Amino acid sequence: MISAAGIELRAGPDALLVDGSLRIGPGDRVGLVGRNGAGKTTLMRTLAGETQPAAGQITRSGTVGYLPQDPRTGDLEITARGRILSARGLDEIVTRLHTASERMGSTTGEALDKVMSQYARAEAEFMALGGYAVESEAATIAASVGLPERVLGQPLGTLSGGQRRRVELARILFSGADVLLLDEPTNHLDADSIGWLRRFLGAYKGGFIVISHDTELLDATVNRVIHLDATRQELDAYSMGWKAYLQQREVDERRRKRERSNAERQASTLREQAERMRAKATKAKAAQSMLKRADR
Ligand SMILES: Nc1ncnc2c1ncn2[C@@H]1O[C@H](COP(=O)(O)OP(=O)(O)OP(=O)(O)O)[C@@H](O)[C@H]1O
Ligand SMILES: [Mg+2]
Repeated sequence: MISAAGIELRAGPDALLVDGSLRIGPGDRVGLVGRNGAGKTTLMRTLAGETQPAAGQITRSGTVGYLPQDPRTGDLEITARGRILSARGLDEIVTRLHTASERMGSTTGEALDKVMSQYARAEAEFMALGGYAVESEAATIAASVGLPERVLGQPLGTLSGGQRRRVELARILFSGADVLLLDEPTNHLDADSIGWLRRFLGAYKGGFIVISHDTELLDATVNRVIHLDATRQELDAYSMGWKAYLQQREVDERRRKRERSNAERQASTLREQAERMRAKATKAKAAQSMLKRADR
């Protein structure tokens, strides 16, 4: 569960969000939308704890998996498989298993006994975390986002940017975190993988927030939409699916436009009255306060 209360986000001197609040728990499938540069990535980074809000509180409980819009460079020596398995603490155990089984072929006597007991210990730990079934679950997820077996054995440093981003996506989906924060997860995915991701997220038991330009993905997966309005620096929360949100937002925008033009009409009436009063010196003070009201 992640909850944010009264948070403020800034990009240098500019406010991106003022007094924003949201809460995400199990079963919440949120689409986060807003125009380019509105601050969606900044908001997600802040929810993930990678940066602090200028004001307000964020609390997290349970596990959180974050896919950044731009992948960071980490340890480039580890294999794609190791990176994915590390999400559930399996990478180190699998490495120990491989090392022990290699050594078993070339050792004898007492040393062999030692290696065999190392192997047995590693295997017991491996089984306790789900064992071969879990390893094959990781491989299935990897294949589904376009990472074949061959690529899984390669160190991250030898992979393309797109492949590395898919490794990060596979890792986060495999982690089974309570809340997923996905910033443009369909980038670098082909149509088949996007279809698979749509189904995967559609069946996800935890909560997630997804930033995506893929309206089909949003339509198939979300049950809430949060619109980060760059003009008002506010979050508009809609507890509904994608199509209902599109309709509701149109209604809201028409209403806001109407309210704005009403307010402008009232303001200009006040300004006219104030101008007339200012002409009479005795009413200058009243005119001033009227002008103030009009500005408001
Ligand atoms: N490190 C930074 N330093 C200064 N300004 C930044 C930094 N990172 C982002 N910004 C600015 O903050 C604003 C919000 O950026 P952000 O990446 O959060 O937007 P976004 O909604 O994710 O955009 P997009 O849809 O293009 O991904 C932009 O105006 C951007 O230029
Ligand atoms: Mg972004």
